[in-house]
Amino acid sequence: LALAAFAVAQARQISHLPDAPAMCPLEMRKNTRWGVATASYQVEGGWNLGGRTPSVWDTFSHAGFIKNNDTGDVACDMYHKYPQDFKLMRELGIKHYRFSFSWNRILPQGGKGTPVNPEGIAFYNSLINEMIANNIRPYATIFHWDLPQVLQDKYQGLIGEEFIADFVNYANVLFENFGDRIRDWMTFNEPWVTCVLQYGQGVFAPGIPMGDEGMYKCGHNLLKAHAKTYELYHKAPQAKLDNATFADAARGKVPQAKLDNATFADAARGKVGIAHNIEYLEPLTHAAALKANNVTCYFLLEFLQVPQAKLDNVTFADAARGKVGIALNIEYLEPLTEAKEDVAAANYGLEKNLGWFADPLFFGDYPASLKSCAKDVLPSFTAEESKLLKGSLDFLGINFYTGKFAKGSTTDKCSVETREQDVNGKDIGPLAESSWLRVVPWSFYKLLKYVQSRYDPKQIIITENGVSAPKEDSMSVQQAIRDDFRVNYYKGYLDYLCKAISEGVKVNTYFAWSFMDNFEWREGYSQRFGINHVDFDSPELTRTTKDSGKFLSKHFFRVGRGG
Ligand code: NOJ
Repeated sequence: LALAAFAVAQARQISHLPDAPAMCPLEMRKNTRWGVATASYQVEGGWNLGGRTPSVWDTFSHAGFIKNNDTGDVACDMYHKYPQDFKLMRELGIKHYRFSFSWNRILPQGGKGTPVNPEGIAFYNSLINEMIANNIRPYATIFHWDLPQVLQDKYQGLIGEEFIADFVNYANVLFENFGDRIRDWMTFNEPWVTCVLQYGQGVFAPGIPMGDEGMYKCGHNLLKAHAKTYELYHKAPQAKLDNATFADAARGKVPQAKLDNATFADAARGKVGIAHNIEYLEPLTHAAALKANNVTCYFLLEFLQVPQAKLDNVTFADAARGKVGIALNIEYLEPLTEAKEDVAAANYGLEKNLGWFADPLFFGDYPASLKSCAKDVLPSFTAEESKLLKGSLDFLGINFYTGKFAKGSTTDKCSVETREQDVNGKDIGPLAESSWLRVVPWSFYKLLKYVQSRYDPKQIIITENGVSAPKEDSMSVQQAIRDDFRVNYYKGYLDYLCKAISEGVKVNTYFAWSFMDNFEWREGYSQRFGINHVDFDSPELTRTTKDSGKFLSKHFFRVGRGG
């Protein structure tokens, strides 16, 4: 009886959810990967556990720079609660999870040549294995803003040239320890935010304003670190990435090596056959027929004698080897009017914010417009650096939230004024709890079309998309989980994403931000982006799925593809 009552209650809850977005046919939803994202400092907690040293965000929050004096000391306590979180993901049908590593948990002293923390490695091994045991594919961000404080103190973090070697070393530690199970890597999360808010303006940790010069220096170092990491990953022998543990997690007790040798390799090895025509030949010419057959047999034997390792290295491994990308944030800019200067301003705004990072990665250099507008402060690449940068990504990650209008100037081609109201004073879209975020579903479509036509990426992953619902923080749990605002946001944005996909934009994976409410940087816990509610007042930090989570689960997570 209790079960029946539960089922009725569930059905009632689900029945008010809207249908799938009109432009997302079932076939497309089935063929796409839908997942959720978080980041270490925002969800982990355990700030001083297991040998972890402080990151710049620990220092910044402990110094009282966060709203309500919040800190990430405990956050969602995913450090302890990840088994239940992966169980919840599984229940919702989530098969893809983007998370980030805490650099200072892995390398407490941060730099190259300093000891790797075995407790940090053990923590992430366990986290990843639990994920895989729940049939969830891991996607890892190497750096999501939480720089070890020691490196900030030593050379001003991303401003210092030494950052590059230290970052590559840190990435290498991750590849060597987790590369057997993680095939999807993002070097940096939102370089624009890192360099503008963290270093340029200093409104994010470490909180030291370095002006435009610092901001561009940060971007320059970050890009070089990215390209070197990309190179390192693709040069590493596959064997090194493959070294054993995936099997232990995914398959239980049978050692991977045994599976590899006895079955998987055989399955992975290709097959050689022949469609041979032969006429029956009378003994007179039999010798000639045999000779022809021998030639065929020779090729067959040749193939079968190639050691699997060789096939693995040259072909299969290249297919099985993972991918390295980056997650860039961008707001779409729509010209305020059709006037030439507004169109130019929207264009320049996109080049200045997205092109700053995307142009070097795709084309090997900064956009010409940026080079001319920021000529006094923008560093330049050597020919060798430019070569290394060009094409240094296997997929482009995009964090997308909102769009604005752009207004230009007839006298200054470098000026971009952004507006949230059109010429008639009408809002571009409803305002979320975050002051920078208005709901503008069509802007997603326009941005994706822009990216596809300017860069023609091999693959696009939407590494983040989501919204903070107004006043959610002051609501009871029961009120907060009826989050129509967020349901409508997702419905609208996904509709336009699907439209873009149907027109050939190469998005095959999408992550909602965020799996659960968490530490929203300077805003602490006051802005909630979760599709699962976290009751920060309850000792258990109880998670409750919101309507948006149910909506995504029903139409996307459950129907979408795994693997
Ligand atoms: C972008 C960031 O990557 C993430 O950390 C943040 O919480 C969301 N946007 C929402 O602001």
